[in-house]
Amino acid sequence: LRHLLSLEHLPRAQLIALLDRAQCLVDGEGDRAALAGIAICTLFFEASTRTRLSFQLAAQRLGADVLNFDVSTSSTRKGETARDTLRTIEAMGVRGFIVRDNEDGSVAALAAAAGPGTALVNAGDGRSDHPTQGLLDMLTLRQAKGADFSRLKVLIVGDVKHSRVARSDLHALRTLGAGEIRVCAPPTLLPADATLAGCTVSHDLDAALEGVDALMMLRLQRERMEEGLVSSLEDYHRDYGLTASRLRHAAPDAVVMHPGPINRGVEITDEVADGPQSLVLRQVRNGVAVRMAVLETLLGGPVRPC
Ligand code: CP
Repeated sequence: LRHLLSLEHLPRAQLIALLDRAQCLVDGEGDRAALAGIAICTLFFEASTRTRLSFQLAAQRLGADVLNFDVSTSSTRKGETARDTLRTIEAMGVRGFIVRDNEDGSVAALAAAAGPGTALVNAGDGRSDHPTQGLLDMLTLRQAKGADFSRLKVLIVGDVKHSRVARSDLHALRTLGAGEIRVCAPPTLLPADATLAGCTVSHDLDAALEGVDALMMLRLQRERMEEGLVSSLEDYHRDYGLTASRLRHAAPDAVVMHPGPINRGVEITDEVADGPQSLVLRQVRNGVAVRMAVLETLLGGPVRPC
C-alpha cells in the first residue's frame, strides 16, 4: 500500500490486516520506535479536531517527527498552491502527509504529484472519502458485534449526500460483507449516484430502525449544503433525530455510532449520545490505534502480527 486515499478498492485482506493491527495496538502492543527518524506533516485545509489530533498522537506514539502545518499563517495566504506546498515540505525530507481538503479528489491529485518515496493519507476530501474514519468505525463495530459482519443489520441515518464518512463506511461494510445495509434520510439528502447500490433506502426512520444491530448517525454537513435542503433543524430532528424512544425500535443490544462532531439535539439527543448504547467516544479512542496502524503500514516497512 503506497497511499491510503479511499476504502473503495482496498482489498478485503488489506482492510482486515489494518483492523487486526489496530486491535493489537488497542490491546497495548506496539513498537514505539517504528517510525523513528521519519517526518510526517498534517496538512489540513479544512477544520478538524478528532482526525488531526489523533493522527498527531499516532505519529508521536510511533516515534515520528510531526509537523503541524497551519494554513492560516502559511504561504498559502500569499497564493502558494497546495501542490507547491506539498513539494516544498517534501523537499525538507518529510515522507508522510495527512491531508484534508474540501474538494473531492484533491488528495488523490496531490498524491499523484508527490515524489516516489512519499505517502499520503486522505484525512477527508469534500464529500468523497474519509478512509481512516471508515476503518475506525469498522474496528468499533467489530469490537462490539464480532468479526462476522454477515449477521449484521446496519442503518445509516442522515446527510448521506454530503458525507464522506458514509461513503467510506459503505465501501468498508460491503467489503466486510455486512448482512443488510439500510439508509434512511430525507429525499433531499440522498445522493443520486451509485453510492447507495445494494442498500435498502427509506424515508421513515421508525420503520428503518426495526431490528437493526448498529446505527451510524451522520452530521448534517451544513457547510457543504445548498439552501433549502432541510426545511428547519426542528423538522429534521422531529423526522430523523435519534431519541431514546425511537431507539427502542432497534434490537435491544443495538449500538449507536456518530463520527462527530455532533449537532446535539439535531441528529441525536444528549440522552442517546451519552447513553449506554453509544460508542461515540470508543470510536474516538479507536481512531488513534487505527491511524497508528495506517502510518506503520505506509511508512514503517513490514508490520509484525501481534
Ligand atoms: N470525524 C471527524 O472527521 O472529525 P473531525 O472533523 O473533528 O476530524
